[in-house]
Parts: sequence; structure tokens; C-alpha cells
Amino acid sequence: MELLSSSALLWSPVVANNRMNRKRQASGINSYEKELQFTPQSWLNDRLQQNGQAAWLDLCCGEGNALLQYAREAAENQRQANIRLKGIDLVDQFQPIPSGIHCVRFETCPLDNWTSDTQYDLVTCVHGLHYVGDKLRVLAAILKAIGSEGIFLANLDLKSIRIAGDPQHQYIKKLFAGENISYNSRKKIISCRGPRDISFKVSYQGADDKAGPNYTGQEAVDSYYIVFCIVYLILIIYN
Ligand SMILES: C[S@@+](CC[C@H](N)C(=O)[O-])C[C@H]1O[C@@H](n2cnc3c(N)ncnc32)[C@H](O)[C@@H]1O
Repeated sequence: MELLSSSALLWSPVVANNRMNRKRQASGINSYEKELQFTPQSWLNDRLQQNGQAAWLDLCCGEGNALLQYAREAAENQRQANIRLKGIDLVDQFQPIPSGIHCVRFETCPLDNWTSDTQYDLVTCVHGLHYVGDKLRVLAAILKAIGSEGIFLANLDLKSIRIAGDPQHQYIKKLFAGENISYNSRKKIISCRGPRDISFKVSYQGADDKAGPNYTGQEAVDSYYIVFCIVYLILIIYN
């Protein structure tokens, strides 16, 4: 099997697929609310009430409609001054930011080497990690970007993280459990409250863009790793 580097993966037709759903809103029929069973607006409005400000980072934001929907609601309620919304995507297909909306920023950038120097009340990544090469490196960076009272939610299929010698994903499951990171294996949603500083003791080998459709029915990317030390893996799995 040919494994692709993160930079080669960006040119893969699976990642650059124009038929992907990049249009989800924050809530409604085609929405983050439906995918995550969580309403971004309610959470952010609550943070706003508690702290007087709220910040949302949406990774792999697609067209940015979720952020724009919340920004419009905030503008209608004269709350924009205390709201910071940031969307990042590999592809520059963001909807235009309407005049009068000034709390949204979009950035075109692959997540592969991304790190954040800011923390957020809400970090989301809706059906984006399926296409990322080094998912564990990106996850570690995301976990650091959660504010002290913030929350992270994303769709994640553990089957797409292939660690040699660990077909049942015991290493990741135990690590998540030890760090109090929730993973719902039925809904395939990872969530976490507050930041984490995690170092995954694995080495990224590359990505397989021919893994075929995942649970969403769409073609996705598997990420391959080896552990730094096999004894460490055995200890983690059997302890
Ligand atoms: C299925 S779409 C979801 C978009 C949006 N979250 C939504 O639900 O409408 C996945 C998005 O991930 C983006 N993406 C894929 N690989 C990426 C990478 N390495 N870095 C940043 N964005 C990436 C794609 O460009 C695409 O917009």
C-alpha cells in the first residue's frame, strides 16, 4: 500500500472532492446541531452571559455557514463586539462575509502543521478529520486550543487511525479515558471540556486515500502510525 505524505494528500481527489458537504449551518436541517447533537448558539450565548465574551473556532469549516449563521444572530442582537469567530479550511470556498458582520475571520490553511496561540470557548471540526493525514498531531493541537471552560466536539472514526499492532484501538481508547476525553463509538463523536496537553507516543507513517468509504458513506482517509516503543504499547493495552 502506498502511503501519502501530508503534503501529497492535499492533492488527493478524496480530499479535494467538490461533492463534499461544505454547507452545514450551525442549526437547522443541514447543520452542526444535527451532526453533533449540540447547539453551538446555546453554548456560546451561555458563555457570553457568564464571561461577557465568546470565541468559536471552526476547523475544516467548509463554506463557513455555521459561523456566519451565528454571526448574523449576534449582529441582530447587537452582541458582535464581544464575539470572535474563526474558520479555517484548506479550500477557499468561504461564503462572502456580509457587510455589517465584523466578528468572523476565515483563513485558508491546511491543518497539518497548524497550531493555535489562542484558546476558544468552542472548537468544532465537523466531518473534517476524516480527510486529515496526521490526525493525532492535529488532535493534539486542537486539544491545546480549548479554553479553560471551553468545549471541543468533532466527528472522528477511530477505525481511520491505524496503529500497527493495535487493531482494536486500545492505545487511543485508554489514552482518551485516562485524559477524560469522551469518545462515543456509536455516534463517532469525540468531545472534551477544557484544554489537554497530550503527546501521542506514535510516529506518523502516512495516509491511505484509497481506504474507501467510511461510516458516512463518503471516501475518507486512513492515517497510519507506529508506536515509538512496542513495550510501551503492550503496557498501555494490558494495564
Ligand atoms: C465534509 S467537509 C465539512 C465542511 C464543514 N465542516 C461542514 O460541515 O459544512 C470537510 C472539509 O474539510 C476540509 N479539509 C480537508 N482536509 C483538510 C486539511 N488537511 N486542512 C484543513 N481543512 C481540510 C475540506 O476542504 C472540507 O471543506
